[in-house]
Amino acid sequence: MIERMESLLELVHVGFSAQNQEVIRDVSWTYAEGKTTALVGPSGGGKSTVLKLSAGLLVPSRGEVNFRGKNISQMNRRENLEFRGEGAVVFQDSALWANQTIHQILELPLRVHAPELSPDARLGRVREVLRQVGYRKDIGIRPAMLSMGEQKLVAFARALMCRPRLLFLDEWTESLDDRSAQRLVGLVRERKALGHTIIFVSHDLHIIRDLADQALVISGGELCMVLTEAQIKYDDNLSRFLEKEIAS
Ligand SMILES: Nc1ncnc2c1ncn2[C@@H]1O[C@H](COP(=O)(O)OP(=O)(O)OP(=O)(O)O)[C@@H](O)[C@H]1O
Ligand SMILES: [Mg+2]
Repeated sequence: MIERMESLLELVHVGFSAQNQEVIRDVSWTYAEGKTTALVGPSGGGKSTVLKLSAGLLVPSRGEVNFRGKNISQMNRRENLEFRGEGAVVFQDSALWANQTIHQILELPLRVHAPELSPDARLGRVREVLRQVGYRKDIGIRPAMLSMGEQKLVAFARALMCRPRLLFLDEWTESLDDRSAQRLVGLVRERKALGHTIIFVSHDLHIIRDLADQALVISGGELCMVLTEAQIKYDDNLSRFLEKEIAS
C-alpha cells in the first residue's frame, strides 16, 4: 500500500542572514502532514533558526516557506491568522511575558483565536491544559516566580491552548525532571496518534528515538543529512553519529 503523504509545510532554498552573517544557507525540505520530524545537530548549528523560519516567525533572506502551498511571507491578515491558529510554538527560552500572570499568558491565544468563549470557558480551558501538563502552582503569579522547568510547562500549555494540528517545539523538555519530561512526551505521542504534525528540536536521543519519524541533521547552517526512522532506531553507525552530533 502506498502511504499518502501530503506536503504541509515546505522550505524552498531558504537562506537567512543577520548582522552580515549567513546563519542558514540554502535549506530545502518538505514536512509531510502527520509526520514527526526531529531537528538535531550541534549547538549553534542553526536548529532554532530553521524551526523559527519553518514557523513563519523569521522571514527568510532568500527562498520561501510555503504552508499548504502558500508563501507565509505573502499571506494576508486572514490567512496569517488561520496559520497561527493551526500552528503553535514552544520557544527554547519559553518566552513568557514577564509582566503578565500565568492566567493572562494562557488566555491570550484563546482571546485571539476563540473570541466567542466566555471568561469562564477560557478559565476552564486554562485549568484543563495546566492539569494535562502537570502544572501545580497558582495561576495568578508571574513567570519570574517560576523555575525554568515550570516555565517550560507553562510554555507547553500555551502552545496547546487552541488545539493546534501543527506543533513546533524547541528544546521543550530541557530543565524538566524525568517525570515531567515523560508527561510532555506522552502528550506529544497522543497528538502524533491523532495525525498531527510535529517538528521538534531535541538533544535527547531517547526522545528522538521515541517520537521521530525522521531526523534532519543541521550543522553549520546547512541541512547535512536526513535520517529515516529505521536509521535513527536501528542503525548503530548512524545512531553513534547522531549521539556525537547531538553531544558536540
Ligand atoms: N538574529 C541573529 N543575528 C545574528 N546571529 C544569529 C541570529 N540568529 C541566530 N544567529 C546565529 O546563528 C547560529 C545558529 O543559531 P541557532 O540558535 O539557530 O542554533 P541552535 O542549533 O538552535 O543552537 P542551540 O543548540 O545552542 O540552541 C548561532 O551562531 C547564532 O549566534
Ligand atoms: Mg537552539
